[in-house]
Amino acid sequence: MNLSLFIGVSQNMAPDLNSAKKLFIFLGKSVFALLEAMVFALIPKPRKDVAGEIVLVTGAGSGLGRLLALSFAHLGSVLVLWDISKEGNEETCKMAREAGATRVYAYTCDCSRREEVYRVADQVKKEVGDVSILINNAGIVTGKNFLDCPDELMEKSFDVNFKAHLWTYKAFLPAMIASNHGHLVCISSLAGLIGANGLADYCASKFAAFGFAESVFVETFVRKQTGIKTTIVCPFLIKTGMFEGCTTGCPTLLPILEPEYAVRKIVDAILQEKLYLYIPRFLYFMMFLKSFMPLKAALLLTEYLGGFTLMDGFLGHKKQD
Ligand SMILES: NC(=O)c1ccc[n+]([C@@H]2O[C@H](COP(=O)([O-])OP(=O)(O)OC[C@H]3O[C@@H](n4cnc5c(N)ncnc54)[C@H](O)[C@@H]3O)[C@@H](O)[C@H]2O)c1
Repeated sequence: MNLSLFIGVSQNMAPDLNSAKKLFIFLGKSVFALLEAMVFALIPKPRKDVAGEIVLVTGAGSGLGRLLALSFAHLGSVLVLWDISKEGNEETCKMAREAGATRVYAYTCDCSRREEVYRVADQVKKEVGDVSILINNAGIVTGKNFLDCPDELMEKSFDVNFKAHLWTYKAFLPAMIASNHGHLVCISSLAGLIGANGLADYCASKFAAFGFAESVFVETFVRKQTGIKTTIVCPFLIKTGMFEGCTTGCPTLLPILEPEYAVRKIVDAILQEKLYLYIPRFLYFMMFLKSFMPLKAALLLTEYLGGFTLMDGFLGHKKQD
């Protein structure tokens, strides 16, 4: 290997000492970072205390959002619950109080409407205070093949699953930056990492949500806003009703997850300030394979895992209507 490629060579072909110094500092710090990651893989990171933190959960009226709210209620956080469904949200509010939360505030908010997000966000700031943990969880799925999906539904997928994240960040991130304290949580999906048939608009919106959260994370890192943490969550199917009727071709490697398990993992990832959480664990290996597998082999693997037929029996929340 030609080291001069890495350390840079000055115009008169003498090794550039600054570049060499930069390379060795980079290598030293990288070895330290790897060792640190290995230690934390063996000994779990201590969990942070979120008692008294103002936690906003969007889509808190059912499914993961409700369970996330209840978990933070147990941890002593102040809860701000948003959902388009007043009834579901108030039920979560009642359950959170029963779980011991003393300060719970429920707001009906359609997160797909920018002006509504800003209006309700202002109300939260006045009535509760600055949100310090923002969990962008509200989501919808159309479950249609691309050409069968009406334009308005595709736009709605983007509005709820991705654009709402822009507006909530705009509303709550400035106060986090001012105090150098906060945590941004993006509930994306395996569909935010791998394209799937029958899920074109959903995948696109979840890729967008992932890319947005990761980019703002990099912005905060570059600006040394170290007190602001990010967690991006990519789960496979979860039994909440959203993907009712969908199947897995390999329950051992890709089980359909219990919501309680998924939420336990999400809360742990937030408390341990992990940047990425893929569940089940096999998804990390899938992403590793995706990065180098020949296309034919990757398609065979996807077929074996049931990826092509996953959406065939999709009913979603229709089943409950
Ligand atoms: N269930 C799964 O298999 C699965 C897998 C991966 C990722 N996810 C993601 O997890 C998140 C939670 O999903 P879930 O399974 O709990 O689904 P869910 O349908 O049970 O809950 C979604 C909640 O979002 C609310 N919501 C929908 N549109 C809204 C809007 N415009 N404004 C405000 N609230 C709105 C709904 O009323 C509902 O309470 C979603 O972002 C979803 O995409 C789910």
